[in-house]
Amino acid sequence: MAGGAIVQSGSGKEYPGNLTVFVFFTCVVAATGGLIFGYDIGISGGVTTMDSFLEEFFPDVYRNKKRDTSNNKYCTFDSQLLTTFTSSLYLAALIASFFASTVTRAFGRRWSMLGGGITFLVGAAINGAAQNVLMLILGRILLGIGVGFANQSVPLYLSEMAPARLRGMLNIGFQLMITTGILCADLINYGTAKIKGGWGWRVGLALAAVPAAIVTVGALFLPDTPNSLIERGHSEQAKRMLRRIRGTDDILDEYDDLVAASEESKLVKHPWANITQRKYRPQLTMAILIPFFQQLTGINVIMFYAPELFKAMDFGDDASLMSAVITGAVNMVATFVSIFTVDKLGRRKLFLEGGLQMLTSQFVIGTLMAITLGTSGEGHFPKTYAGFLVLFVCIYVMGFAWSWGPLGWLVPSEIFPLEIRSAGQSINVSVNMLFTFVIAQAFLAMLCRFKFGIFYFFCGWVVIMTAFIALFLPETKNVPIEEMVLVWKGHWFWSRFISDDDIHVGTTNVEMGKPNSEF
Ligand code: BGC
Repeated sequence: MAGGAIVQSGSGKEYPGNLTVFVFFTCVVAATGGLIFGYDIGISGGVTTMDSFLEEFFPDVYRNKKRDTSNNKYCTFDSQLLTTFTSSLYLAALIASFFASTVTRAFGRRWSMLGGGITFLVGAAINGAAQNVLMLILGRILLGIGVGFANQSVPLYLSEMAPARLRGMLNIGFQLMITTGILCADLINYGTAKIKGGWGWRVGLALAAVPAAIVTVGALFLPDTPNSLIERGHSEQAKRMLRRIRGTDDILDEYDDLVAASEESKLVKHPWANITQRKYRPQLTMAILIPFFQQLTGINVIMFYAPELFKAMDFGDDASLMSAVITGAVNMVATFVSIFTVDKLGRRKLFLEGGLQMLTSQFVIGTLMAITLGTSGEGHFPKTYAGFLVLFVCIYVMGFAWSWGPLGWLVPSEIFPLEIRSAGQSINVSVNMLFTFVIAQAFLAMLCRFKFGIFYFFCGWVVIMTAFIALFLPETKNVPIEEMVLVWKGHWFWSRFISDDDIHVGTTNVEMGKPNSEF
């Protein structure tokens, strides 16, 4: 690695350069990759509650739903077939992210984004025009492939483009776009549910083409990251790109570090086999546990089932959809808090505060349900409690929106060395998709069995994940992405996995500050 620079815990090595207008806009455009994921999260829950949609494609489900007269608020109608339809997208995304890993590594991050945008666009068209279940499912598989490609490449792209000291802020643009997509979808659900004539669902599904078109056109104009250019042997282009995105000619230090990382990377022929090596144990652990924990916060219970949950609490149809819009707006606005604080406060503080906030609000939600509905689920949910319920759901969503939401994408994208970055990110995406699928599939059945206790169940997980962060996640703010190995080396637990040979500091003056407390 290049000489002279100092890597300090917390403050990090500083390369010359500023946040240029060019890099800012590039990151904004790339972040729109999150729109397609968010739009789908928001739209599917709305569409599958529309009677006209069910009558047309799932008549049996529709009939059974109408026949269901149970008074038990915990056991709302649950069709595994219908949830499988919704979650088929996540399975497709899970598989696609592995293919995306090869494209992202061999051809560059933007080709994965472009591929993702185009596939999603075709999927949206097929879904909007669907005449039968086959078309619907084919459309959803294509949407899933699009999401798999975009989620695999966009966070990496953002983390590589951004200057280290603003990496958190620029990367969280991705989560901001996810939440924008969800909110737009919530609003569209609210509007299309009122359409008489039974074609409202078509509008919602077809409008997915809008975010897809934005992503596709955006990807056409995006430049490649310097890291990826060097990795693919285009050194001169990489230098030009670095000058452009950093707004200075003084880029040699950073360039040399990128070249060193790329040399390392070339020694690795099989990233999939390599990632299991002992020296990558910390990164592999994070690539699996961070997305797993992100889903075990229970966030998608709210994202997918908020209207149903509110309906079960005696909210009217309109009020339920409106409440979903409110939580969607809170989710988006609260993301800004992390954008503005993540590079100052750091990742750990946000994780810990968000965890505590989710824990308390989930506890209150569970208890409100226990008091009003009891264990039978046949109690009544008084109006006075309704406001409190929405309030605590909002407090919970806020906590997620400035912690596990954005950081669940940021942290994995910034901790892998170049040689396993693409493979590592695929693991992150696929674990995320797998558990999104599991929660979507199992939640209604679990609510029926665990009753209000389901919220205590998620509380338990939040305690575990918060303790995990406190003990095992080092602070990564401001540390250049290709220097991250030093952070593991300075950690009280992970240092045992990193030998001195694994750190190729060359002439770099490495000064690890206060390893244990800071990390
Ligand atoms: C998660 C999604 C979730 C969304 C909510 C994302 O970070 O991956 O599963 O629905 O945040 O904002």
